[in-house]
Amino acid sequence: MWEKLYEISSISYQIRVVEETDLNSLLLVKPDASIHADRFQQQNSGKAVYFGAFINNYAIGYVLLSLDNKKDVMPYTNQEKCADMIDLLVIEPLRNYGIGTRLSLVCEEYCKEIAIPYLGLDVNPADNFAAKRLYERLGYHEVGELHLDGVYEYTDGQGNQGQYEDWCIDMIKRI
Ligand SMILES: CC(C)(COP(=O)(O)OP(=O)(O)OC[C@H]1O[C@@H](n2cnc3c(N)ncnc32)[C@H](O)[C@@H]1OP(=O)(O)O)[C@@H](O)C(=O)NCCC(=O)NCCS
Repeated sequence: MWEKLYEISSISYQIRVVEETDLNSLLLVKPDASIHADRFQQQNSGKAVYFGAFINNYAIGYVLLSLDNKKDVMPYTNQEKCADMIDLLVIEPLRNYGIGTRLSLVCEEYCKEIAIPYLGLDVNPADNFAAKRLYERLGYHEVGELHLDGVYEYTDGQGNQGQYEDWCIDMIKRI
């Protein structure tokens, strides 16, 4: 097989608020229009900010910053408000270059600007060790108990259907 390695010396990416005109690009990352539509609705009503990472306007990652109070962690924030970082994602070939960290830091900066004192998230510590390590490195700590965050249907490579239980823990950070 013919094969040769080439390098791209420097590529810059942009993090900005996602707009509805980005939908086609987002669908290449997550092909579920209803999820993005719901996020645009939350953004339009001021309940969330949808941040995306882009190279030449092609989405390479995103995170939904929900500004609704994350009520389940209130016992651990002295009843102070906590925003929620939802579905942080970076496309596979561009992982481990700091983009996930940068998206998280952008959420923190935004919360700071609007005086929300805490930022939290849910992570599955058993199946998503990489994400948990990222959050720990950024100073997030676990609070509360493991809880069932969702149950998802899946079909495996052999066509067998099953259900996946997403057991998560809350992590928070004072920002
Ligand atoms: C979790 C996720 C968003 C992380 O994104 P990412 O862009 O790979 O994250 P980063 O590159 O910032 O950090 C990952 C690691 O790369 C390292 N890294 C960052 N920049 C680097 C660089 N320039 N060179 C080498 N390593 C680097 C980081 O130190 C980090 O190491 P750690 O494992 O010790 O934390 C990504 O793995 C993903 O999309 N996973 C699937 C979706 C998911 O599980 N989301 C989390 C929901 S809770």
